[in-house]
Amino acid sequence: MAEPAETAYITTPIYYVNDRPHIGHAYTTTLCDIWARSMRAGGRDVFFLTGTDEHGVKVEKSARARGITPLELANENAAEFRKVMDLFELTYDDFIRTTEARHVSQVQTAVRRLLESGDVYLGEFEGWYDEGQEEYHTETKAKELGYASPISGQPLVRATQTNYFFRLSAYQERLERLFGERPDFVRPEARRNEVLGRLRDGLQDVPITRTNFEWGIPFPGDEEHVIYVWIDALMNYATAVGMCEEPDGDRSRYWPADFHVIGKEILWFHAVIWPAVLMALGLPQPGCIYAHSFWISEGQKMSKSLGNFIDLEQLQGYMSTYGTDALRYFMATQGPQGATDSDFSRAQFHETYTTDLVNTVGNCASRTSAMVDKYLGGTCPARSGEGAVGALDWSDFTSGQVREHLDAMDRFELGRAIEAAMRIIRRVDTYINETQPFKLARDPEESGQVAGILYDCLEAIRIASCLLESTMPARIAELRAAWNLGAASGDLEAECGWGRLEPGTVISKVALFPRLELEEQA
Ligand code: MSP
Repeated sequence: MAEPAETAYITTPIYYVNDRPHIGHAYTTTLCDIWARSMRAGGRDVFFLTGTDEHGVKVEKSARARGITPLELANENAAEFRKVMDLFELTYDDFIRTTEARHVSQVQTAVRRLLESGDVYLGEFEGWYDEGQEEYHTETKAKELGYASPISGQPLVRATQTNYFFRLSAYQERLERLFGERPDFVRPEARRNEVLGRLRDGLQDVPITRTNFEWGIPFPGDEEHVIYVWIDALMNYATAVGMCEEPDGDRSRYWPADFHVIGKEILWFHAVIWPAVLMALGLPQPGCIYAHSFWISEGQKMSKSLGNFIDLEQLQGYMSTYGTDALRYFMATQGPQGATDSDFSRAQFHETYTTDLVNTVGNCASRTSAMVDKYLGGTCPARSGEGAVGALDWSDFTSGQVREHLDAMDRFELGRAIEAAMRIIRRVDTYINETQPFKLARDPEESGQVAGILYDCLEAIRIASCLLESTMPARIAELRAAWNLGAASGDLEAECGWGRLEPGTVISKVALFPRLELEEQA
């Protein structure tokens, strides 16, 4: 019997239903989508999870303000998020909603286990209470606020609240050990250092229930309390694959996740609280918490007050002018995957589109297929090897780039992975300029040489296109159709072996990325 395929599990944060979808949501989900597609192309059994975070006081308040129930609000906005993901053709395998019964019941099971193990206990929380806002502040925060409500100006009052607490303090040493043993547990490194810095300040137990509102998962056995929205939300990564069910569901084979991809603002919850909860539940740790940075918009931080979010309408504008693949490529190569923020500017978008996609990928494929059409009647020539010039060994060169690409993808370094593919394309361009097949073609004696050169070009582009397919699925599908390359085989590495392109294959001319003027963008 064949070995079962190696599994791969990647997650996005689950998005708050009280927000409208914007570039940030599209970005994280697109990064995960590229990785998921690439792993599928490599034959792995992939589970790609996204969804919505639907509980909490904010949802309750927004719903009340609109005169609808929290669930009605959640239904409406969860549908909106889903629509966006489908519009972007994001290939998630499941979309989890925290109001679903499968999630609620497993969260309660998990919390019950934590109560039994003593990791959750009933305790008292003393703090500065804002009566108007029904909100507690810590000493530091209250001092910052001048001990008055930032909303009503009324003085904060000293009050105690009874809550269930998670014994986070008990996990200090184990967390330090985890971070020490697994330097790649939190990436990029700057983010890891941030967490380590805060960890050194020491951990305190955290309240994990609330009593001042109702829109949440009832605490098992004490329905006065609802489970704090962050604990509820983090658990989605486990409940979606049935980790808190007895017995574990079929999907438990995916556990633990290879990557929890998040934005940097929610790092603490993912890098400290979540691993501690998993330790308490006796579940294995994820491979990596990957925290990317933020998009800013035309040089400014995106904020509600400035109203400058790159929203769905704008994204649709880019998609209809440049195509979804161009947006994906831009996000993956120019985005804030590292430790610094990136600016989303129209000019930069247009520039990247023109330089990388029109002038490089598109031009190289169209130039090559046009020559094959003109000099070889639109058929792939024999693998003669006659085209080789200088010291360039195409097989060696491409296999090096393929290895680099696969290694980078495995490590979720999307920019480096894409760059390896682009290097192949750029090398083809240089090769054409060096060997000048369009000049050689004037001399019938050189026809063998021309054919050899063009085979190399076609084959190198084919290999690069296999590597670019996870980033630009639609345009590469066009190329596959025009060059009769067939469907992906599920063994990306083998498919990228030099010489797989069959002589005699009909090659049609392609124009993958039309040249556009910047003004055309609405
Ligand atoms: N519901 C929580 C997450 C719970 S996960 C267990 C949440 N939701 S959110 O709707 O606010 O989405 C936050 C995520 O959106 C960020 O972590 C990030 O992935 C993405 N982004 C939001 N704004 C962003 C930018 N400006 N730039 C890039 N991504 C950002 O937090």
